[in-house]
Amino acid sequence: MAVHHNRGQNRDLEINPVFSREPVRVPRYALPRGEMEPDTAYQVVHDELMLDGNARQNLATFVSTWAEPEARRLMDECAEKNMIDKDEYPQTAELEARCVHMLAGLWHAENPRQAIGCSTTGSSEAAMLGGLALKRRWQHRRRAENKPTDRPNIVMGINVQICWEKFADYFEVEPRYVPMDGDRYHLTPDKAVELCDENTIGVVAVLGSTFDGSYEPVADIAAALDDLQARTGLDVPVHVDGASGAMIAPFLDPDLEWDFRLPRVASINTSGHKYGLVMPGVGWALWRDKDALPDDLVFHVNYLGGDMPTFALNFSRPGAQVVAQYYNFLRLGFEGYRRVQQTARDVATRLAREIARLGPFELITDGSDIPVFAFRVREGIDHFSVFDVSAALRERGWLVPAYTFPKNRTDLAVLRVVVRNGFSHDLADLLLEDLRRVLPRLDKQGEPHRDEDDAGGFAHGAETKNPRRHGRH
Ligand SMILES: Cc1ncc(COP(=O)(O)O)c(C=O)c1O
Repeated sequence: MAVHHNRGQNRDLEINPVFSREPVRVPRYALPRGEMEPDTAYQVVHDELMLDGNARQNLATFVSTWAEPEARRLMDECAEKNMIDKDEYPQTAELEARCVHMLAGLWHAENPRQAIGCSTTGSSEAAMLGGLALKRRWQHRRRAENKPTDRPNIVMGINVQICWEKFADYFEVEPRYVPMDGDRYHLTPDKAVELCDENTIGVVAVLGSTFDGSYEPVADIAAALDDLQARTGLDVPVHVDGASGAMIAPFLDPDLEWDFRLPRVASINTSGHKYGLVMPGVGWALWRDKDALPDDLVFHVNYLGGDMPTFALNFSRPGAQVVAQYYNFLRLGFEGYRRVQQTARDVATRLAREIARLGPFELITDGSDIPVFAFRVREGIDHFSVFDVSAALRERGWLVPAYTFPKNRTDLAVLRVVVRNGFSHDLADLLLEDLRRVLPRLDKQGEPHRDEDDAGGFAHGAETKNPRRHGRH
């Protein structure tokens, strides 16, 4: 949705005399009548974009902001390829299938070559597909039992990313959120089970909470649901939202059971463009077997004389990101990914430790799950806020979001740092130095200068505007 940030700027774009030989004026918000030289148009667009933040200093986003030149070259070579044209670009389709099998192996599918899955635009689309499969399975089961299907619900922690709120809203499933409570900032087994009933299509467990980077206890949630089934007969599947964690845990926490090793895990999503290390535009959704993805959701198209199943919300989509994902898998292999992710974890945990040592801050998490941590201003310090800290760091170009937690911890405001590939120990030291530099000034403030309303919207989904999240549910 287009937003006019520059309200009141009704002037045309005035381009000359800087870039053009001919005097040029073009309307800002209307299609220009005529053409202009490509180099002029390029320069105009390029210059305006200089005002965007520096992506490498953007510690708010989980999404890759660095890629190897070879990956960029391949993306450039594939810029015109449409992922849906499997007939015209069969090798791109083949690379997508290979990625699915590789992920299935990484996530311990019983038979990775038989696993079902697809690429998506990101975890949000993958979440919609995962949720839809849960809903359809539940509907089939209920219809077979001659029971009503008009009140499906889905159980999750209130810390879920906004995509799950969207899923529930768009596809008319009642969201049942477990609120935060005291020091519990994500879903726990007992609370998940409490909200389940015969209308529950599934439980979403997040591997790497958007709010603080913590892993939810997937195995314990699955075990509690096993117990629920033994007691009541209710069979509630789990979808793991591994947007970040599904590309961290396999490499750094191989003994942690959160994936298809747990029979209750029906499906998993991840963002190829987060710790999959691809530039924005690719996610993945996988199902443990055919039973987990009802066939009536899958459209079958005729493909090179054979059958090509597709399950997607979009039709056209760039193929370049999928190619880049395959490049990364090939280029890094297991050991390369392990090394990259370990470095991110090392940087995150060291930076978190150093920040805790500064004095005024207290860690909520320490970066030892996904390489993301949240910290707050210590209780008792009330002359500056996390929002002041975020604004002060912005002066040096660092984008470190500050936001409040959801129900029942709306009193808690934090800063969050996402460490990604390309954010080195050196850059972390520079951030630390800047943080040290601003503290004496903040210390002299009589009272906080900024609050939640000044925070801007750059916390990436951690700042839902939908009153239902904080209110009715
Ligand atoms: C846990 C979680 N799920 C889903 C998403 C949405 O992912 P995407 O941006 O790939 O659509 C995010 C994004 O930060 C996330 O952290």
